Amino acid sequence: MSRSWSRPTSRADVVTFVEITDEDVAHVVALWQTCGLTRPWNDPHADVARARATSTSTVLVARGGDGVVASVMCGHDGHRGWMYYVAVDPTVQGQGLGRAAVEASERWLAAQGVRKARLMVRDTNARVLGFYAALGYADQECVVLGKDLAPA
Ligand SMILES: CC(C)(COP(=O)(O)OP(=O)(O)OC[C@H]1O[C@@H](n2cnc3c(N)ncnc32)[C@H](O)[C@@H]1OP(=O)(O)O)[C@@H](O)C(=O)NCCC(=O)NCCS
Repeated sequence: MSRSWSRPTSRADVVTFVEITDEDVAHVVALWQTCGLTRPWNDPHADVARARATSTSTVLVARGGDGVVASVMCGHDGHRGWMYYVAVDPTVQGQGLGRAAVEASERWLAAQGVRKARLMVRDTNARVLGFYAALGYADQECVVLGKDLAPA
């Protein structure tokens, strides 16, 4: 079943976010690399495959030109929903696509019955905190702890 989420942007366009298809995968990985979101210890293709493998997570993409111009990965545990890989092609940043991606993720999560949206920002990427503040996201006064359960 195909589902999509749209909102008018400041460019008076309609940006539509849809669930990723096989044809989008190479484009979305390239977008993440261009946006500096990939890390050597995370295989982005595996991240996409895992997100697509269950009904509680997905990757939403907005297509444009020959590829994907914006993305967000989202998933949930039934209580909290999380978003990752919020990315907008640098050539079209500042035109509302980032907001549209986050709002598309919020609608996807809400449609799954999730009431709380959460995300993590790396300390090295603090410049995006203003972006999330503009969208209503606030510091949750939590420290994220982690432990790798298997070698990367
Ligand atoms: C962060 C990112 C997704 C923002 O996308 P964008 O399309 O440029 O953002 P938008 O144009 O939708 O901006 C939405 C709002 O945030 C505001 N905003 C954007 N960046 C901001 C910043 N650094 N500081 C303060 N406000 C900011 C805009 O003014 C806009 O406000 P408005 O809707 O009230 O007018 C984009 O810059 C990006 O892909 N960055 C690289 C990848 C990345 O770091 N992702 C986040 C990982 S946690």
